[in-house]
Amino acid sequence: MKQPPSHRVAVFGAGYIGLVAGACFAELGHSVTVRDIQPGRIATLRAGSVPLYEPGLAALIARNKERLRFTLDAAEAVRDAEVVYVCVDTPPTVSGDADLSRVWAVVEALKGASHLSAVVMKSTVPVGTGARVRTALDAAGLGHVAYASNPEFTAEGQAVEDFLCPDRVVIGSDDEITAKLLVNLHHGVDGPVEIMDVASAEMVKLAANALLATKISFTNEIAALCEATGADITKVTRATGMDHRLGPHFMRAGLGYGGSCFPKDSRALRALASNSGCGFPLLSAVIDVNDLQPRRAVKRLNQVLGGLSGRTVALLGMTFKPGTDDMREAPSTVIASRLLAENAQVRCWDPMAPRRDDAPWASTHRCAELQEVLTGADAALIVTEWPQLREADWDRYRTLMRTPVLFDGRNLMVPERMEELGYLYLGVGRSSAGRLPEGLPTAAR
Ligand SMILES: NC(=O)c1ccc[n+]([C@@H]2O[C@H](COP(=O)([O-])OP(=O)(O)OC[C@H]3O[C@@H](n4cnc5c(N)ncnc54)[C@H](O)[C@@H]3O)[C@@H](O)[C@H]2O)c1
Repeated sequence: MKQPPSHRVAVFGAGYIGLVAGACFAELGHSVTVRDIQPGRIATLRAGSVPLYEPGLAALIARNKERLRFTLDAAEAVRDAEVVYVCVDTPPTVSGDADLSRVWAVVEALKGASHLSAVVMKSTVPVGTGARVRTALDAAGLGHVAYASNPEFTAEGQAVEDFLCPDRVVIGSDDEITAKLLVNLHHGVDGPVEIMDVASAEMVKLAANALLATKISFTNEIAALCEATGADITKVTRATGMDHRLGPHFMRAGLGYGGSCFPKDSRALRALASNSGCGFPLLSAVIDVNDLQPRRAVKRLNQVLGGLSGRTVALLGMTFKPGTDDMREAPSTVIASRLLAENAQVRCWDPMAPRRDDAPWASTHRCAELQEVLTGADAALIVTEWPQLREADWDRYRTLMRTPVLFDGRNLMVPERMEELGYLYLGVGRSSAGRLPEGLPTAAR
């Protein structure tokens, strides 16, 4: 079969999405220049290292180094490009709307690039952004340069796999030639392609994330009811998820969703709904439930320990999920702040989280080993389900803790096993067998 021609692609943004997209497009045979504005990031990439952790990414970049270039210079990135991919960050503003200032900076940098065929938005943006960018391109004399939306649905920790074998590739384009160009660009990607108009493509991304967030918050609400009524959420969701109309995914009770997407995108969609005069009360409830989850965990610890002041709490995991070094909107940050506000001593352990000086971590003690973080602790709280925790020597760790209270915020462990080992085990939405070990603080008994 005839292979479609390889293309020259400029990717703006060397973050989680831009780097993965750039490396994957190179893997598919295209020539890619990735541009970022952070000199440190570009210097690291040029030196052959990767400035963030994403499984498989370093190997992919190394394997395709002949087809990948990195630059700080926008003009250099655009010079030979046919297609520009916008992969910059779109963080929330105070109003909850997406901050598009970085997107506009990229559009500004394209002035004079009349040789381009298309500008493609991969960043998550409000519905209607495409129309605004179209107007800006027209005003810049780039009326002949097509605009398309190609939202990214990848999950951090499996981004390379998700890019190359996605559930679907969504292409939002108002003309057939550009849609075909993007289909060709994705030749070799193992997944169905859905072509639609730009506004619908923008909405697919926001709707998908809001629905996933809804499943998580719904499950957490049912979990709270399980705690109140003696049911076990793990059994409830297992059997509920067997219904093919529902499916088992995103129905794990825990400390709430975090990361760079769900919190930001659910707020952005709610803001979009409010700005459009529609409102979205269901999504507001989803966001409220999520805000509550880490606070409920701290409250339950407070009750079990009979107060948190002066207690030492070990946080096991800091990143928003395992398999990433991303700390953005991680529930651990709220939990650490709340514990510190209650005058607790906080120690934390995480195999990947970067060391940072800013609050709330500044007043916590970071430990390299589980043994260290658990020694002398009054309670441990599993925040991120790192596989190391499942395999840890919990029998020995119990003897190191001052009081063996284990709050499993991700329902990672088998409660009966932890109780057999002598822990006071608390899960999310799981009833405890009620056998409380000796030596616990009065409130726990
Ligand atoms: N991280 C995810 O899992 C994920 C998933 C789907 C969609 N998205 C969306 O993709 C977009 C990027 O997310 P991310 O996680 O990669 O963000 P990120 O913060 O990791 O990376 C963004 C990069 O863009 C760079 N940048 C900013 N302005 C620039 C400019 N003018 N020119 C070139 N580079 C510039 C930044 O320096 C940064 O390195 C966001 O809109 C996000 O919502 C992210």
